[in-house]
Amino acid sequence: GTSGLLAGKRVVITAGPTREPIDPVRYISNHSSGRMGYALAEAARDAGARVVLVSGPVSLPAPAGVDVRPVVTADDMLAQASAAVDEGCDLFVATAAVADYRPETCAGDKIKKSSEQMALPLVRNPDTLATIAGRDDAPFTVGFAAETSDVARYAVDKMQRKKLRMIVANDVSVPGLGFNSENNAVTVFWPEGQTAIGPDSKQRIAERLVALISEQLNADPA
Ligand code: PMT
Repeated sequence: GTSGLLAGKRVVITAGPTREPIDPVRYISNHSSGRMGYALAEAARDAGARVVLVSGPVSLPAPAGVDVRPVVTADDMLAQASAAVDEGCDLFVATAAVADYRPETCAGDKIKKSSEQMALPLVRNPDTLATIAGRDDAPFTVGFAAETSDVARYAVDKMQRKKLRMIVANDVSVPGLGFNSENNAVTVFWPEGQTAIGPDSKQRIAERLVALISEQLNADPA
């Protein structure tokens, strides 16, 4: 089992989608259910960690014994994750599916139907994972990568670019796995190795990830 593997460690996890408002009644979002991140929060808790879960809007119950901090937008996610890391953090894991872009402005009133076509200008959102990994006092940082093609190449590239210690790659092109499902299959990469986990339940995958992460974390406490 994983009991005690993260004893005394402070863990911050992001989970779920973000919502980027278009007007008072509409938003841009994605199909993340939060299940992968919530399963990881529970597995880290069961391994003895103190867990803060920065969660986008999901319909899952708050896990017992986990400090859940709800957020809506990518801006909120960066602010809450940074505040949680400021409080002290040994391990940061980003499972959230953050919107890369948000509408440039949020209309004050509901946008009316008018011409046949309309354009919605978007601007880049801040990257929580890259921001945390780039801190001088960065914790051991693990990213996820959801890809539909060339999964390994994009994942390893992301790990190097964002200065991560480990990346968990999801092939989200496989039906029934990944986004908004009970199951997942991942390949985990770190500088010295890689391993495939699943297909299995997100709970089982989370336990395996906690075991793998704690092996690397405890081998190198820097
Ligand atoms: O929530 P579920 O339904 O259980 O589904 C789980 C999942 C498929 C969402 C999850 O396993 C997953 O793969 N999460 C990452 C999804 C993603 O959007 O990946 P990305 O390649 O866009 O982002 C790469 C990494 O940077 C991720 O760790 C992401 O959390 C982080 N990121 C990205 C953009 C941004 N603005 N801020 C971030 O922190």
